[in-house]
Amino acid sequence: MKGLGRFTRLMLLMNPLLLVLLAFATSKSREDGDGRCKYKRTLAPRPHSVSITEFGAVGDGLTMNTLAFQNAIFYLRSFADKGGAQLYVPKGKWLTGSFNLTSHLTLFLDKGAVIIGNQDISQWPITSPLPSYGRGIDIPGDSNIEVQNITIHAPSDSPFTNGIVPDSCSDVCIEDSSIAVGHDAITLKSGWDEYGISYGRSSSEIHISKVFLQSPLGSALAFGSEMSGGISNIRAEHLRIYNSRMGINFKTTRGRGGFMEEILVSDVEIHYVETAVQFTGYSGGHADDKYDPSALPVINRITIKNVMGTNISVAGALYGIEHDPFTAICLSNISMTVVSEVSHSWTCSNVSGFSQSVFPEPCSELQIHYSNSSLLCYSFVDDYEFSPLAIA
Ligand SMILES: *[C@@H]1O[C@H](CO)[C@@H](O)[C@H](O)[C@H]1NC(C)=O
Ligand SMILES: *[C@@H]1O[C@H](CO)[C@@H](O)[C@H](O)[C@H]1NC(C)=O
Ligand SMILES: *[C@@H]1O[C@H](CO)[C@@H](O)[C@H](O)[C@H]1NC(C)=O
Ligand SMILES: *[C@@H]1O[C@H](CO)[C@@H](O)[C@H](O)[C@H]1NC(C)=O
Ligand SMILES: *[C@@H]1O[C@H](CO)[C@@H](O)[C@H](O)[C@H]1NC(C)=O
Ligand SMILES: *[C@@H]1O[C@H](CO)[C@@H](O)[C@H](O)[C@H]1NC(C)=O
Repeated sequence: MKGLGRFTRLMLLMNPLLLVLLAFATSKSREDGDGRCKYKRTLAPRPHSVSITEFGAVGDGLTMNTLAFQNAIFYLRSFADKGGAQLYVPKGKWLTGSFNLTSHLTLFLDKGAVIIGNQDISQWPITSPLPSYGRGIDIPGDSNIEVQNITIHAPSDSPFTNGIVPDSCSDVCIEDSSIAVGHDAITLKSGWDEYGISYGRSSSEIHISKVFLQSPLGSALAFGSEMSGGISNIRAEHLRIYNSRMGINFKTTRGRGGFMEEILVSDVEIHYVETAVQFTGYSGGHADDKYDPSALPVINRITIKNVMGTNISVAGALYGIEHDPFTAICLSNISMTVVSEVSHSWTCSNVSGFSQSVFPEPCSELQIHYSNSSLLCYSFVDDYEFSPLAIA
């Protein structure tokens, strides 16, 4: 065992919950830019595979299988240096509490295999405090994770149910998946206030592609509000967002420090959403009262493009922090039919950026002219390389 970072925990805190999951360890390598994740899958089958039934699990939707999953994964850890192993879950309804995944593991759910989160809260223990949080809410992020073809579902009225939460993680691919939960469907984080600042591990090189997201009480795709270790080099594309309170939501507050920058969100279809795009510098509480209010987050070089929306109440609400404006927020090729008065469709303060071909027309803060060469929009050139598009 090489430390906490080698474990991944399914962040599935509330129930009932339905999860169909297929996770691949990945190696980082380039592929052509066809909207697929830019990591090459380890297609070689795992040399060892065991079925969850060998650990006494019963897929009848009634039997508790928490120990079976925990024991199976504990056992499979011993194959880490032997090419890894696969835990096979056959068709059935597998009731369980939380369990940790581990490195060099493929959790393979066969067609019709459903992992159901048990409703007994004692099956979902709070973990010991994370160094980056100062509180036990999560465990340190693992890296080199591929999540594919999964469906995650929690009731739409279940508070604080999140789908996938990469937290201080790098080299993560999430694709071809469908997530419908009460709170945030996918949210990227990196530690909390002074704990996250001193831990200093960012979330970066995360690629999200071809996902369906729904979150009636939260955000479909969120960044923060815990982002004190920084969030950068993120590409999220081919998103379909429905029935959500917020569509794309960047959240932070004073005391966080850290940064959110070099983020590209593109090719988004968004329907029946209250606020399609939000940036807020006034979101989230603090770990404790030891945070430094002068630790201001840097929000810079975020591009949102190719968005088509209908039945949107508010196109955009962007509130930077006073004396700490959010900069280089760039919007391009966005068209939304907004239910509210068009004049109220965008509100902005303490932000600046550039926009082109955006309907309804955004606020003047987002209409800095091309000729202002201090503005750097963020864009993608090709093949997982982010590079600045200097507007000069
Ligand atoms: C999962 O990992 C966390 C952090 O290492 C640990 O606190 C917890 O006990 C683990 N749970 C199991 C069932 O191994
Ligand atoms: C994911 O699902 C698609 C469509 O069902 C299938 O073509 C593809 O092979 C699946 N991917 C994996 C890794 O199983
Ligand atoms: C604008 O965005 C739409 C998707 O909303 C896309 O189909 C279209 O190709 C984009 N246009 C350009 C010029 O990129
Ligand atoms: C949703 O938007 C479409 C097209 O803009 C419109 O025809 C429809 O009436 C809207 N539905 C609701 C419930 O507002
Ligand atoms: C910045 O935000 C504060 C607080 O919301 C507001 O009072 C102030 O007018 C804003 N400044 C600008 C330049 O928009
Ligand atoms: C360029 O933008 C910066 C901040 O974004 C601003 O301070 C400066 O006044 C602008 N210059 C011009 C010529 O608009």
